[in-house]
Formats: sequence, C-alpha cells, structure tokens
Amino acid sequence: MPEPILEISGVNKSFGPVHVLRDIDLAIYPGQVTALVGDNGAGKSTLVKCIAGIHSIDSGTVAFEGKPVILNDPRVAAALGIEFVYQDLALADNLDITQNMFLGREIRRFGFLADGQMERKARETLTSLSVRTVSSVRQSVASLSGGQRQTVAIAKAVLWNSKVVFLDEPTAALGVQQTRQVLELVRRLADQGLGVVLISHNMNDVMEVADRVAALYLGRIAAEVLTKDSSTTQIVELITAGRSGDIGLAPATANESI
Ligand SMILES: Nc1ncnc2c1ncn2[C@@H]1O[C@H](COP(=O)(O)OP(=O)(O)O)[C@@H](O)[C@H]1O
Ligand SMILES: [Mg+2]
Repeated sequence: MPEPILEISGVNKSFGPVHVLRDIDLAIYPGQVTALVGDNGAGKSTLVKCIAGIHSIDSGTVAFEGKPVILNDPRVAAALGIEFVYQDLALADNLDITQNMFLGREIRRFGFLADGQMERKARETLTSLSVRTVSSVRQSVASLSGGQRQTVAIAKAVLWNSKVVFLDEPTAALGVQQTRQVLELVRRLADQGLGVVLISHNMNDVMEVADRVAALYLGRIAAEVLTKDSSTTQIVELITAGRSGDIGLAPATANESI
C-alpha cells in the first residue's frame, strides 16, 4: 500500500448554524481512483471546496505528501499540484483548445504569448493521455461535443504536472460512448500515478473505474471501501442510509437527522 498523497483528518465545516462536514477523515492515494459518493446535500462539493481553498475549514488537518499544509487559498493547492475540474466546465467557448488549456496561465516569451510553445504543449498533453477524439488543438471549444469538452477540461487540469486531480461528475452530461472515453481517461490519469478523486452519482462509473469508494452521509464519512470487495447495492445503502450490514455509521448516528 503506498502512502497517501493527500490526507484529510478530523475536518469540520459549518456554514453559520449548519454543520456540513463532521470529523471527515479521507486519504487519497497516488495511482488510484477514489470515488467520493453521497446524496445531494451530503457535503461533497463543500469538502472539495475546502481542499481547493475556496472555503476555510473550522477544525482538522490536511497533509500533502506527508507534510501538513494549510489550503486557505486556491493558489496554494495549485502550487502543490492539486487541480480541480468543476461540473460547470469553465471553458471559454470563443477560444480554441490551446487557449483554453492555458487560460490564465499563458506562457510568455519577452512579454509576448508563446503561441507555438503552448500549442505544442497542448498537443503533447493530449497525446500523452492517448486522446484521439480531438483533431486539432486550434479547434474552437464551441465546436466540441460534451465528451471532448470534458477531455479538454481534464487535460487542462493535468497540464501542470499535477499530482492530485478532483473531478466533479465528469460524465453527468455525457452519452454512452463519450462516458466510456472519459472514464478511460480517468483511469489513465491514475495509471500515470496521479491521485484521482471522482465525484459521481453513477454507480456504473464508480464500479468500473474506482479502486476505492468513500461514502459521505449527512456530512460524515459513512465508510471507505475497496470497490473489488463491494457491491453496487452495498454502496447505494451507504449513500442512502449511512450503513450497510456491518459497515458504516452506528445506527444512532445513521438515523440522526439534521
Ligand atoms: N455557501 C454555503 N452556505 C450555506 N450552506 C451551504 C453552502 N454551501 C453548501 N451549503 C449546505 O451544505 C450542505 C452540503 O452541500 P454540498 O456540499 O453542496 O453537497 P453535495 O455536493 O454533496 O450535494 C447542504 O445542506 C447545503 O445547503
Ligand atoms: Mg455538489
């Protein structure tokens, strides 16, 4: 078992009187896909935003590569190599693939945009991810399919030698064939050694691509299980009831309402 690349311990977060995250422990491993699952309102996005430095945490610690870090600013996460692909893809339709991949982080030489260099790097990144569905990196993003857009958003996130990438529902808007391509890409990221966190509602996606599953229930981690030892039914029970058979939260906690 490798050491976790990112380890969250005892994290709590409230918004005013609403206690959204409760004593969260979660470890992310390099070379593995960890699925983060949970019902609407369970706290998935809040947890991700705490790691991104968009929200501050009230208590708890975060360690990156074994060292404590304070992720109180999105630039800290980016500097460590933690990247996020949010659901609303945040790509600019009026720009091409290369421009999107370098948006806000353009490479300049002598004050001028190094267009050729960025184009080359964009192409190399897509090739290294075995992306064959995009014909030209100068194609405008407006002309891409949903699956291609998701691919560009993911490639953008891993362009910077990232070590951990969070993907929020990357297949939510996609058809069968495009979902397949994106899941293959998700798997490839892990196979290249990244720690991948896949937020998903889709149990097929989770069972197919994840190595482990962390189930959030009313702001608590109900259980963290290995996909190979679990069934879809078990994971659905963890999501909807906070427990399944012997695993998960104690009945008193699982039944607690907020
Ligand atoms: N900025 C905020 N202010 C107040 N409450 C919030 C805020 N963001 C999220 N919440 C609440 O936190 C809970 C968890 O939300 P969220 O993290 O979005 O869940 P999920 O992503 O699992 O659907 C919800 O009850 C939501 O209403
Ligand atoms: Mg959410």
